[in-house]
Amino acid sequence: MITSIHYTDYRNLADCRVEFAPGVNVLWGMNAQGKSNILEGIYYFARGKSFRGAHDRELIRFGAPFARAELTCMRDGHEYPTTLEAYLPKTGKKRFTKNGVQLSSVVELMGHVRAVLFCPAHLSIVTGGPLERRTLMDVALSQLSPAYLNHLRRYAKLLTDRNALIKLASGGQSVTEAEWEVYAEQMSIHGARIAAYRQEYVSLMADAVNDYFSAMTGGREVPSVAYQSHAVGEEDEPCPLLTGTPGEEQPSIAGMEARLRERLTIHREREIAAGVTLFGTHKDDIRLMLNEKEARLYGSQGQQRSMVLAIKLAEGAIAARCAELHGGETPVYLLDDVFSELDGSRRAFLMEELGERQIIVTSCEPDVVAAKERVRFCQVENGGVKEN
Ligand SMILES: Nc1ncnc2c1ncn2[C@@H]1O[C@H](COP(=O)(O)OP(=O)(O)O)[C@@H](O)[C@H]1O
Ligand SMILES: [Mg+2]
Repeated sequence: MITSIHYTDYRNLADCRVEFAPGVNVLWGMNAQGKSNILEGIYYFARGKSFRGAHDRELIRFGAPFARAELTCMRDGHEYPTTLEAYLPKTGKKRFTKNGVQLSSVVELMGHVRAVLFCPAHLSIVTGGPLERRTLMDVALSQLSPAYLNHLRRYAKLLTDRNALIKLASGGQSVTEAEWEVYAEQMSIHGARIAAYRQEYVSLMADAVNDYFSAMTGGREVPSVAYQSHAVGEEDEPCPLLTGTPGEEQPSIAGMEARLRERLTIHREREIAAGVTLFGTHKDDIRLMLNEKEARLYGSQGQQRSMVLAIKLAEGAIAARCAELHGGETPVYLLDDVFSELDGSRRAFLMEELGERQIIVTSCEPDVVAAKERVRFCQVENGGVKEN
């Protein structure tokens, strides 16, 4: 649970402290007052960067030398609060501390705060390209597994380097067989593990999305959610990396590794002609269908929104289940301007599903939630807040 956050020169929040209650917290006020900035700052601790795609320097208040945010949370099962601090200077390196002790990198920051974000831009999970859906998996899995984040970073570096090598080869320079081999081997090692995590994640997501849809539509609409990857074959069952015994190596990962390695070898001529790596987990996608039709192409906007809602609820449910199985934090829910887009019944469904969890909502109107008990209201005005 997040108890408070204090901003210094973070966007338009020059000196702003916000306190949060355990249940529903409503941040309300007119446009451009700083409501989304407050959520962005909280989510920064969960994701390690802005959810609006902003660079760190854009988070520093105009004209200020640095931005700082200090978040205090009560972690599950802990008696004392944890304080996390992010310090983003205009020049020089950003810095994170936990209870005053410096963390070595953003990777160490991850996992202390788990949050699920809902915002209108997430419609692109359904309507946008594969990158949107890979980002969804990456953001969620990075919060759940430091190992995943590590594989992801290693793979991204290898991919950049291999693409540079392909460019050289396309330009007529000779590349030795040994060099190609190193990339095929290393990328298949990390790629197979990325794929195994994603496969399990999407399989958990598929089950949850099915349940939410039958609850929302009484079974009238049938979704289908499927992971698509060069690494995974039809016969591959998901490995229980998230829900099984932690740290246990799964036998089927070897098969994924071999499959990726082959693809990174036999298509080389094609890749040299294209000038880029064509096969691997950087091409993964999630296929989203409704009533056996592609949701992106054939879904109505209402159906697409329901799909996003179900996927986001699934994200929270999976995080909560992982926390139950292996410890760690249950997520906090951050809802940026989403109520205006949902009809009454979906709004009620969402609030019902989130139940007793800590929720931080932004809205132009204060009266967004039906129940008034256990709700804390804060009005946001010109970068400041007052409780009311
Ligand atoms: N780096 C920055 N320094 C100062 N103000 C900023 C910065 N970045 C954004 N803003 C201001 O923040 C305001 C938008 O805040 P936001 O939280 O998105 O509003 P809303 O309350 O509508 O959610 C705008 O007035 C914008 O000019
Ligand atoms: Mg906003």
